[in-house]
Amino acid sequence: MGPPLQNRRLYGRRQGHRLRPHQAELVSTLLPRLSVGLEAPLDLTDLFGGAKDIWLEIGFGAGEHLSAQAEAHPEVGLIGCEPYLNGVASLLARIERQALPNIRIRMGDARDLLDALDAATLARAFLLFPDPWPKKRHHARRFIAGETLDRLACVLKDGAQFRVATDIDDYCAWTLAHLTAHPDFEWCARTPADWRLRPADWPETRYEMKAKAAGRQCVYLTFRRRPR
Ligand SMILES: C[S@@+](CC[C@H](N)C(=O)[O-])C[C@H]1O[C@@H](n2cnc3c(N)ncnc32)[C@H](O)[C@@H]1O
Repeated sequence: MGPPLQNRRLYGRRQGHRLRPHQAELVSTLLPRLSVGLEAPLDLTDLFGGAKDIWLEIGFGAGEHLSAQAEAHPEVGLIGCEPYLNGVASLLARIERQALPNIRIRMGDARDLLDALDAATLARAFLLFPDPWPKKRHHARRFIAGETLDRLACVLKDGAQFRVATDIDDYCAWTLAHLTAHPDFEWCARTPADWRLRPADWPETRYEMKAKAAGRQCVYLTFRRRPR
Protein backbone atom coordinates (compact mmCIF):
# COMPACT_ATOMS: atom_id res chain seq x y z
CA MET A 1 0.00 0.00 0.00
CA GLY A 2 1.16 3.53 -0.72
CA PRO A 3 0.94 6.28 1.89
CA PRO A 4 -2.60 7.17 3.00
CA LEU A 5 -4.05 10.06 1.00
CA GLN A 6 -4.21 13.19 3.10
CA ASN A 7 -7.55 14.85 3.36
CA ARG A 8 -6.44 18.00 1.57
CA ARG A 9 -8.69 20.62 0.19
CA LEU A 10 -8.11 21.44 -3.46
CA TYR A 11 -9.28 24.88 -4.54
CA GLY A 12 -10.08 25.88 -8.10
CA ARG A 13 -12.19 24.42 -10.88
CA ARG A 14 -12.43 20.66 -11.46
CA GLN A 15 -14.56 20.85 -14.59
CA GLY A 16 -15.63 23.53 -17.08
CA HIS A 17 -17.80 23.19 -20.16
CA ARG A 18 -19.15 19.81 -21.15
CA LEU A 19 -16.60 17.67 -23.01
CA ARG A 20 -16.99 17.13 -26.73
CA PRO A 21 -17.88 13.50 -27.62
CA HIS A 22 -14.34 12.60 -28.74
CA GLN A 23 -12.81 14.19 -25.64
CA ALA A 24 -15.24 12.22 -23.44
CA GLU A 25 -14.27 9.06 -25.31
CA LEU A 26 -10.56 9.75 -24.71
CA VAL A 27 -11.28 10.26 -21.00
CA SER A 28 -12.99 6.88 -20.77
CA THR A 29 -10.61 4.90 -23.00
CA LEU A 30 -7.15 6.54 -23.11
CA LEU A 31 -6.99 8.10 -19.64
CA PRO A 32 -7.28 4.77 -17.75
CA ARG A 33 -4.34 3.43 -19.80
CA LEU A 34 -2.15 6.42 -18.96
CA SER A 35 -3.25 7.05 -15.39
CA VAL A 36 -0.79 6.98 -12.54
CA GLY A 37 -2.46 5.27 -9.59
CA LEU A 38 -1.42 5.99 -6.03
CA GLU A 39 -2.88 2.87 -4.43
CA ALA A 40 0.17 0.60 -4.74
CA PRO A 41 3.85 1.55 -4.33
CA LEU A 42 4.60 3.65 -7.38
CA ASP A 43 6.97 1.78 -9.65
CA LEU A 44 8.20 4.35 -12.17
CA THR A 45 10.29 1.81 -14.07
CA ASP A 46 7.14 -0.16 -14.63
CA LEU A 47 5.37 3.04 -15.71
CA PHE A 48 7.97 4.16 -18.25
CA GLY A 49 10.11 1.14 -19.11
CA GLY A 50 13.57 2.32 -20.01
CA ALA A 51 13.11 6.10 -19.64
CA LYS A 52 16.39 7.88 -18.94
CA ASP A 53 14.80 10.32 -16.51
CA ILE A 54 11.39 11.14 -15.11
CA TRP A 55 10.05 14.71 -15.16
CA LEU A 56 6.88 16.06 -13.53
CA GLU A 57 4.66 18.96 -14.55
CA ILE A 58 2.35 20.24 -11.82
CA GLY A 59 -0.87 21.86 -13.08
CA PHE A 60 -0.26 21.41 -16.83
CA GLY A 61 -3.46 23.27 -17.84
CA ALA A 62 -4.19 22.27 -21.45
CA GLY A 63 -0.84 20.47 -21.77
CA GLU A 64 0.99 22.65 -24.36
CA HIS A 65 4.25 22.66 -22.42
CA LEU A 66 4.04 19.02 -21.31
CA SER A 67 3.37 17.68 -24.80
CA ALA A 68 6.09 19.87 -26.34
CA GLN A 69 8.63 18.64 -23.78
CA ALA A 70 7.54 15.03 -24.37
CA GLU A 71 8.04 15.45 -28.11
CA ALA A 72 11.42 17.14 -27.68
CA HIS A 73 12.65 14.54 -25.16
CA PRO A 74 11.49 11.06 -26.21
CA GLU A 75 14.10 9.52 -23.90
CA VAL A 76 12.37 11.07 -20.85
CA GLY A 77 9.17 9.89 -19.15
CA LEU A 78 6.86 12.74 -18.18
CA ILE A 79 4.13 12.69 -15.55
CA GLY A 80 1.54 15.44 -15.77
CA CYS A 81 -0.64 16.20 -12.80
CA GLU A 82 -3.80 18.27 -13.21
CA PRO A 83 -7.17 18.15 -11.43
CA TYR A 84 -9.10 20.04 -14.16
CA LEU A 85 -10.94 17.52 -16.34
CA ASN A 86 -11.12 19.75 -19.42
CA GLY A 87 -7.35 20.30 -19.25
CA VAL A 88 -6.76 16.56 -18.99
CA ALA A 89 -9.04 16.02 -22.00
CA SER A 90 -7.03 18.59 -24.01
CA LEU A 91 -3.79 16.83 -23.15
CA LEU A 92 -5.26 13.45 -24.14
CA ALA A 93 -6.15 14.90 -27.55
CA ARG A 94 -2.56 16.14 -27.98
CA ILE A 95 -1.16 12.75 -26.94
CA GLU A 96 -3.37 11.06 -29.52
CA ARG A 97 -2.67 13.60 -32.28
CA GLN A 98 1.10 13.64 -31.75
CA ALA A 99 1.32 9.91 -30.89
CA LEU A 100 3.31 10.63 -27.73
CA PRO A 101 4.27 7.44 -25.89
CA ASN A 102 6.10 9.01 -22.95
CA ILE A 103 3.39 10.83 -20.96
CA ARG A 104 1.48 9.50 -17.95
CA ILE A 105 -1.27 11.41 -16.17
CA ARG A 106 -2.38 11.86 -12.61
CA MET A 107 -5.74 13.59 -12.54
CA GLY A 108 -5.82 15.20 -9.13
CA ASP A 109 -3.79 17.10 -6.58
CA ALA A 110 -0.03 17.02 -7.25
CA ARG A 111 0.63 17.02 -3.51
CA ASP A 112 -0.86 13.51 -3.28
CA LEU A 113 1.45 12.37 -6.06
CA LEU A 114 4.48 13.92 -4.33
CA ASP A 115 3.55 11.95 -1.21
CA ALA A 116 3.47 8.71 -3.18
CA LEU A 117 6.81 9.09 -5.00
CA ASP A 118 10.00 7.58 -3.64
CA ALA A 119 12.84 9.87 -2.60
CA ALA A 120 15.18 11.11 -5.35
CA THR A 121 13.12 9.91 -8.32
CA LEU A 122 12.50 13.06 -10.39
CA ALA A 123 15.14 14.74 -12.54
CA ARG A 124 13.02 17.84 -13.22
CA ALA A 125 9.77 19.46 -12.05
CA PHE A 126 7.76 22.28 -13.63
CA LEU A 127 5.22 24.57 -11.97
CA LEU A 128 4.10 27.02 -14.64
CA PHE A 129 1.77 29.85 -13.76
CA PRO A 130 0.34 28.34 -10.60
CA ASP A 131 -2.96 29.80 -9.41
CA PRO A 132 -1.83 33.07 -7.79
CA TRP A 133 -4.46 33.40 -5.04
CA PRO A 134 -3.79 37.14 -4.80
CA LYS A 135 -5.85 37.91 -1.69
CA LYS A 136 -3.83 37.72 1.49
CA ARG A 137 -6.40 35.54 3.21
CA HIS A 138 -5.99 33.00 0.36
CA HIS A 139 -2.19 32.83 0.40
CA ALA A 140 -2.35 29.52 2.30
CA ARG A 141 -3.85 28.01 -0.88
CA ARG A 142 -0.72 28.70 -2.92
CA PHE A 143 1.09 25.63 -4.20
CA ILE A 144 4.46 27.00 -3.12
CA ALA A 145 4.41 26.35 0.62
CA GLY A 146 6.93 25.06 3.15
CA GLU A 147 5.59 21.54 3.55
CA THR A 148 5.07 21.03 -0.20
CA LEU A 149 8.60 22.26 -0.93
CA ASP A 150 10.00 19.84 1.67
CA ARG A 151 8.22 17.00 -0.09
CA LEU A 152 9.33 18.20 -3.52
CA ALA A 153 12.94 18.46 -2.35
CA CYS A 154 12.68 14.88 -1.12
CA VAL A 155 11.48 13.43 -4.45
CA LEU A 156 13.90 15.45 -6.61
CA LYS A 157 17.29 13.97 -7.43
CA ASP A 158 20.44 15.81 -6.47
CA GLY A 159 21.03 18.57 -9.02
CA ALA A 160 17.46 18.31 -10.40
CA GLN A 161 15.87 21.45 -11.84
CA PHE A 162 12.66 22.96 -10.52
CA ARG A 163 11.22 25.52 -12.96
CA VAL A 164 8.57 28.02 -11.91
CA ALA A 165 6.90 30.68 -14.07
CA THR A 166 4.52 33.42 -13.00
CA ASP A 167 3.16 36.72 -14.25
CA ILE A 168 2.19 37.97 -10.79
CA ASP A 169 4.83 40.13 -9.04
CA ASP A 170 3.71 39.08 -5.59
CA TYR A 171 3.85 35.38 -6.50
CA CYS A 172 7.35 35.92 -7.90
CA ALA A 173 8.47 37.52 -4.63
CA TRP A 174 6.69 34.76 -2.66
CA THR A 175 8.40 32.04 -4.70
CA LEU A 176 11.85 33.59 -4.36
CA ALA A 177 11.37 34.13 -0.62
CA HIS A 178 10.32 30.49 -0.06
CA LEU A 179 12.86 28.88 -2.36
CA THR A 180 15.90 30.92 -1.38
CA ALA A 181 15.10 30.34 2.31
CA HIS A 182 14.81 26.60 1.74
CA PRO A 183 18.03 24.73 2.55
CA ASP A 184 17.62 22.25 -0.34
CA PHE A 185 17.18 24.71 -3.20
CA GLU A 186 19.33 27.32 -4.89
CA TRP A 187 18.27 29.86 -7.50
CA CYS A 188 20.29 29.42 -10.69
CA ALA A 189 19.94 32.97 -12.09
CA ARG A 190 23.16 34.93 -12.55
CA THR A 191 21.90 37.84 -14.67
CA PRO A 192 18.44 39.48 -15.08
CA ALA A 193 18.12 37.89 -18.52
CA ASP A 194 18.15 34.49 -16.81
CA TRP A 195 14.72 35.12 -15.27
CA ARG A 196 13.28 37.76 -17.60
CA LEU A 197 13.62 35.75 -20.81
CA ARG A 198 12.03 32.37 -21.37
CA PRO A 199 14.79 29.85 -22.16
CA ALA A 200 14.60 28.27 -25.63
CA ASP A 201 13.86 24.83 -24.16
CA TRP A 202 10.87 26.14 -22.20
CA PRO A 203 7.76 25.99 -24.44
CA GLU A 204 5.10 28.64 -24.00
CA THR A 205 1.82 27.82 -22.24
CA ARG A 206 -1.70 29.03 -22.91
CA TYR A 207 -1.85 30.98 -19.68
CA GLU A 208 1.43 32.68 -20.53
CA MET A 209 0.10 33.81 -23.93
CA LYS A 210 -2.94 35.32 -22.20
CA ALA A 211 -0.78 37.06 -19.60
CA LYS A 212 1.41 38.61 -22.28
CA ALA A 213 -1.60 39.67 -24.35
CA ALA A 214 -2.88 41.46 -21.23
CA GLY A 215 0.49 43.27 -20.96
CA ARG A 216 1.84 41.40 -17.94
CA GLN A 217 5.55 40.59 -17.67
CA CYS A 218 6.30 36.90 -17.08
CA VAL A 219 9.24 35.60 -15.07
CA TYR A 220 11.02 32.26 -15.50
CA LEU A 221 12.67 31.00 -12.33
CA THR A 222 14.98 27.99 -12.38
CA PHE A 223 16.08 26.40 -9.11
CA ARG A 224 18.43 23.51 -8.49
CA ARG A 225 18.04 20.84 -5.84
CA ARG A 226 21.25 20.97 -3.83
CA PRO A 227 23.18 17.71 -3.42
CA ARG A 228 22.24 15.78 -0.29
C1 LIG B 1 -3.31 29.31 -13.89
S1 LIG B 1 -3.44 27.66 -14.41
C2 LIG B 1 -1.97 27.44 -15.40
C3 LIG B 1 -2.06 26.25 -16.31
C4 LIG B 1 -0.82 25.98 -17.17
N1 LIG B 1 0.32 25.63 -16.34
C5 LIG B 1 -0.49 27.15 -18.07
O1 LIG B 1 0.53 27.83 -17.82
O2 LIG B 1 -1.27 27.40 -19.03
C6 LIG B 1 -3.03 26.72 -12.94
C7 LIG B 1 -3.32 25.23 -13.08
O3 LIG B 1 -2.89 24.55 -11.91
C8 LIG B 1 -3.84 23.54 -11.61
N2 LIG B 1 -3.70 23.21 -10.18
C9 LIG B 1 -4.12 23.94 -9.13
N3 LIG B 1 -3.81 23.33 -7.96
C10 LIG B 1 -3.17 22.17 -8.30
C11 LIG B 1 -2.64 21.09 -7.54
N4 LIG B 1 -2.69 21.09 -6.21
N5 LIG B 1 -2.08 20.06 -8.21
C12 LIG B 1 -2.03 20.07 -9.57
N6 LIG B 1 -2.52 21.06 -10.33
C13 LIG B 1 -3.09 22.09 -9.71
C14 LIG B 1 -5.17 24.17 -11.97
O4 LIG B 1 -6.19 23.22 -12.19
C15 LIG B 1 -4.80 24.93 -13.24
O5 LIG B 1 -4.98 24.15 -14.40
